[in-house]
Amino acid sequence: ALDKVDAALGLITEIDGFPEPGVRFRDLSPLFADAAGFSTVVDALASTIEPEVGLLAAVEARGFVLAAAVGYAAGLGVVLVRKPGKLPAVAGRVDYELEYGTASLELPAGVVAPGQRIQVVDDVLATGGTVKAACALLEKAGAAVAGVSVVLELAGLGGRATLGDRVVRALSTV
Ligand code: PRP
Ligand code: HPA
Repeated sequence: ALDKVDAALGLITEIDGFPEPGVRFRDLSPLFADAAGFSTVVDALASTIEPEVGLLAAVEARGFVLAAAVGYAAGLGVVLVRKPGKLPAVAGRVDYELEYGTASLELPAGVVAPGQRIQVVDDVLATGGTVKAACALLEKAGAAVAGVSVVLELAGLGGRATLGDRVVRALSTV
């Protein structure tokens, strides 16, 4: 129910000036730590998965927590899109910009099948750089990104526009 989702989202806190001046950071830690809140957002995210999706993709690290639970709830596996240097064999690597700083992501080799429909799961869509990088990796491997599911979209940072025509579902947009 929507009121349960709203109550769960109400557990997210705001910290001004983290990780640097001018940034208002949304902290999902209290939401992740709350049993009812966590299961509510996991079920709500599971309900945003597009038809015919065969695999979830998640970005290290907070995306892993959500995607593992959503995958369990929805009966789907998860491909872990990782920060560099963690994977013994990579299908691809992409460098991108964050709201604060730069980063790189790698996709494990041999996991994503050409033509496979994948839903990307993450906690926060901010500039969209992270999810866009993950989508680019998946698409370069021949997969189709059926949709993107996030708990929180920070609309002022323009992430949705960065993702072009891709379907973006956010439980909350602020
Ligand atoms: C955060 C968040 C998203 C991303 C959103 O991850 O979990 O993945 O940033 O920002 P963007 O839309 O501007 O790319 P972070 O890189 O801080 O890593 P973490 O999950 O390891 O904390
Ligand atoms: N909260 C969590 N993750 C983030 C944020 C935020 O405000 N901005 C970019 N990644």
